[in-house]
Amino acid sequence: MEEKYLAVEELLKKHNQEQLLKNYERMSEEDKANFLDQILTIDLDQINELYESTKKEINFANDKIEPIDYVDKSNLSEEEYKKYEDLGTEAIKNGKYAVVTMAGGQGTRLGHDGPKGTFKLGLKEDKSIFEILTDSLKRNNEKYGVIIPWYIMTSRENNDQTEQFFKDNNYFGYDKSYITFFKQGELPMCSEDGKLIIDENNHIKEAADGHGGIFESMRRNGIIFDMEVRGIEWAFIGPVDNVLVNMVDPILLGVVLDKKVQAGGKSVVKAYPKEKVGVFCKRNGKPGVVEYTEITDELSEATNENGELIFAESHINCNLFNVKAISEISKKRLPYHCAHKKAKYMDENGNIIVPEKPNAYKFESFIFDAFDMLDGMAILRVKREEEFAPVKNAEGNDSPETARKLYKDFYGVE
Ligand code: UD1
Repeated sequence: MEEKYLAVEELLKKHNQEQLLKNYERMSEEDKANFLDQILTIDLDQINELYESTKKEINFANDKIEPIDYVDKSNLSEEEYKKYEDLGTEAIKNGKYAVVTMAGGQGTRLGHDGPKGTFKLGLKEDKSIFEILTDSLKRNNEKYGVIIPWYIMTSRENNDQTEQFFKDNNYFGYDKSYITFFKQGELPMCSEDGKLIIDENNHIKEAADGHGGIFESMRRNGIIFDMEVRGIEWAFIGPVDNVLVNMVDPILLGVVLDKKVQAGGKSVVKAYPKEKVGVFCKRNGKPGVVEYTEITDELSEATNENGELIFAESHINCNLFNVKAISEISKKRLPYHCAHKKAKYMDENGNIIVPEKPNAYKFESFIFDAFDMLDGMAILRVKREEEFAPVKNAEGNDSPETARKLYKDFYGVE
């Protein structure tokens, strides 16, 4: 242990992080051992690089942003529809299709205490979001005569609660050998002066690394391997927070197969320029998304001669990937975006500090930052009222109330 301490001390000094050892003597023997081990797992060069990146403004001015081609599902001829449907259906029926649900987010905006999927939508039949998603997959299993493998990405914070919820509810009648939970990755947070911080349990403070970490987590957790063993070629990756998410759409798969590209994404027409959705685009000739936090007014408001928004294909986090592409992406590093957050921490005297304003940086990568690594991507425009009922905020737009209404209208239930 003494030797390990000295090695860690040297490492921290080299990276200007030796403040971490200030509380070391106060820790129990067990905490000391875990603490040293945790430090050795952290890529300190990466943390310093990430911190340096917070000082630079992300500048897209030099990127060439253009609208992207899309296929409009409601404008397909009968012949085209059938062609895509047949192509997609065959692959699904042959067991080549799986679903991945991103359920690692904390749902802070919704104000629900617990994993977002455990939130009850308030229907007459008292269903949680997880039950709604399970029902949708079960209907597809019946339709295609298969059991679709379902992978659920959780986080360290919500994994146990999520697994327990499924267990307590008998997996809502899904064959549990087809459900796999895996945890998304984490990255240390750092203070405004680039220092790693310690939480109340004597751990280096870490936070979920964003849904872009899904590719790497799928590799690390053996999900890609499991898919390969099961003969799965296509994985739909979708969000937990859309109660109308259409996870098994032969048309999307058919279009992707027909165009011989590695991925496909669903879009809905953006409702108004300031809607909080990213939009699909071509960035320097490659598929991409301009996020709502980074789009300029000029781009978000630009219209064509018919008065329609030019950047109108909203990204709804419903994307389909070839498993080989997932595997390739999983070996590469995506760029990180930085968010300024409130982080409870232990100061150098062992006091727990609960900040009132943001005091630390959290680093996240986004799934769509991987799109430019693909050889191509097909975009399928679908109808908002059929596929997009997000549950994000406690009230107002994209809230349980708006999602409930969309759900009831679509399914004709109470
Ligand atoms: C997201 C998209 C945006 C899109 C909009 C549509 C991002 C950054 N932006 O915005 O382009 O138009 O949805 O509704 O995604 N999640 C994880 N782990 C994480 C973070 C998120 O699993 O570390 C999951 C969430 O549980 C959720 C989904 O990813 O299922 C979306 O995440 P969220 O952070 O809510 O994205 P938005 O800001 O709403």
